[in-house]
Amino acid sequence: MDHFELRNGELHAENVPLAAIAREVGTPVYVYSRATLTRHAQVFREALSALPSVHIAFAVKSNPNLAVLRLLAKEGYGADVVSEGEMNRALKAGMPAADIVFSGVGKTRAELTAAVKAGIGQFNLESEEEGVELGEIAAALGKTATCALRVNPNVDAKTHAKISTGKAENKFGVPYDMAAGIYTRLSALPGLDMRGLAVHIGSQIGDLDPSRQAFIKMGELMRALRDQGLSVTHMDFGGGLGVPYKAGEQLPTPADYGAMVADVTQGWDVTLMFEPGRVITGNSGVLVTEVVRVKQGAGHPWVVVDAAMNDLARPAMYDAWHDFVAVKPSGETMTANVVGPICESSDTFAMAREIDAVKAGDLAAFRTAGAYGATMANTYNSRALVPEVMVDGDKWALVANRIEPATILAAEQVPEWLD
Ligand code: LLP
Repeated sequence: MDHFELRNGELHAENVPLAAIAREVGTPVYVYSRATLTRHAQVFREALSALPSVHIAFAVKSNPNLAVLRLLAKEGYGADVVSEGEMNRALKAGMPAADIVFSGVGKTRAELTAAVKAGIGQFNLESEEEGVELGEIAAALGKTATCALRVNPNVDAKTHAKISTGKAENKFGVPYDMAAGIYTRLSALPGLDMRGLAVHIGSQIGDLDPSRQAFIKMGELMRALRDQGLSVTHMDFGGGLGVPYKAGEQLPTPADYGAMVADVTQGWDVTLMFEPGRVITGNSGVLVTEVVRVKQGAGHPWVVVDAAMNDLARPAMYDAWHDFVAVKPSGETMTANVVGPICESSDTFAMAREIDAVKAGDLAAFRTAGAYGATMANTYNSRALVPEVMVDGDKWALVANRIEPATILAAEQVPEWLD
């Protein structure tokens, strides 16, 4: 459920017509709904309420906008971060350092040091090598780094190959069969407090079975470690729950997911940790765009919009589907290809799709663009970095300015020896 609805024939974000925002800010522009974000945060937490002890760390990568993080901090969410940049955003948004989990396969020495100094609550180690380095850093600073070991369970999440992370051939975590040995050795290091295990098998997961299999394997590993006398008080199940991208698409709900987790983890006696991203932010945002022109072609007409793959990369990168709707639908439809202006064929949002009929100058919106949208934007083709807006009832605010090409150009220089 979201708060982007047609009212008086016009698409609104909560009580604000998208056209009013487009008029003032220009297009393309991301628009987030505060009520939708809040609702999703509450629904996800509610879905886990039967579990004895839970910590939720929002996956900042899905939408790192400061206002979004602030809203989630007020909902009691911590953060899952994968860089010093994300860590600093979460801290700036008011998330306590102790509620932050630092994930990622390539944390640098500088990042580990900064995170230890900041008092980050948990490091999800992706290798024994990283653990050894972190132990040295923490010990040298006279501190102890609290850690979980990320395990690669070799389970196929049955999602797009590029966002699947839990198979043996993926770079993430330590191989399942090596995990107990690594956990044992890292537990003996002075700078580390090994307190748990972590797993994350992929994103946009639409079938709960692979997650169930992975979680069962993690339970077996936990018991094996405990049998050796090692402490496992925390289990981090990562994120990954998918969201519907097509109108009418059915996916497991947070409640289904919560019930599965409760079933698998009965009697585990751990704090369960979660790193949801898309399920919180996905349906909370749209990308508003203007139709530049409709170009006739050999086949279906080409609807050329002013948003492009640099603003919303998911269709180009993962062949992802985003519903495309007119902001003021006429009731007519057309079959068309929807493309951006960038000079490569991957700048395609939809092919031969039945859409609301649109013409040059019309506004339209790509739906379910709140996750992995603005955060993956770039300036390819010397385009602007897309702005972001948050709506709250009748009011709205710019929460990220458009970064103009001139600003980016101003950061470049020609060395004098070239002239
Ligand atoms: N935890 C870890 C360790 C992750 O790697 C991720 C996502 C998450 C949590 C959050 O997953 P979520 O709940 O959002 O599925 N750019 C891609 C998605 C990449 C996901 C990367 N990792 C896309 O647009 O589909």
